[in-house]
Amino acid sequence: MLLHLCTWAEVEARLARSTGIILPIGSTEQHGPNGLIGTDAICAEVFARAVGEAEDALVGPTINVGMAQHHLGFAGSMTLRPTTLIAVVRDMVQSLARHGFDKFFFINGHGGNVATVTAAFSEIYAEHSLRRPDDGNGSGASNALRPRCAIKNWWESEAAHRLSRELYGAEEGSHATPSEVSVTYYAYPDAIKSAEMSPRVAPSGRFTDSTDYRSRFPDGRIGSNPALASAEHGKRIVEAVTPDLAAAYRRFLAE
Ligand code: NI
Repeated sequence: MLLHLCTWAEVEARLARSTGIILPIGSTEQHGPNGLIGTDAICAEVFARAVGEAEDALVGPTINVGMAQHHLGFAGSMTLRPTTLIAVVRDMVQSLARHGFDKFFFINGHGGNVATVTAAFSEIYAEHSLRRPDDGNGSGASNALRPRCAIKNWWESEAAHRLSRELYGAEEGSHATPSEVSVTYYAYPDAIKSAEMSPRVAPSGRFTDSTDYRSRFPDGRIGSNPALASAEHGKRIVEAVTPDLAAAYRRFLAE
């Protein structure tokens, strides 16, 4: 169930059954010659909704702009600074924690978010750790709701690795991958693009800022050949990866 399609009374009733919530987080950034700008946000949302359905879990709003400063050399890319994203994650978690949610499972579509979102979790935990036991109304920090957070990268699930090896082998790469482009083509078949890839497989390597990135990876891809992407592959990937992510969510709730 999507949070934004619930009434407050429905959310209150759900909270009596489960205090867990899934939060999709992605990015709005270039994805090479045939990949959609929204690829990472779309993938996170597709998987979060699928897991929400499979587990009858609540799914919060998608954070669809992430930490993507290195992509700003390409038109349409947007970023939040790390400090901004930390503040966004923290405020969202604490808003929901106020109502009694205490298990926050982020399904992530963008590798560039990981360090920053993990830092946001540390900020959230630090707030509780730094509180004096006798603060507030005397209830004590030990009795206060203590949020627990996790971030799960969909492409690192076992099924995602297996299918990527089977379908694309060494042409998967690490940015604008045929796997992620396939998932978006499955979700939005009207937005499928085609483009020449030159070279067929993009170069690999590291980068620092957006100027450095563009000079090393002129068409935006890293190590990938997304011309191999298809909606049919996307369907297979979504169907195979969703049970892995659902199992990860169940384990998280049970921890
Ligand atoms: Ni991506």
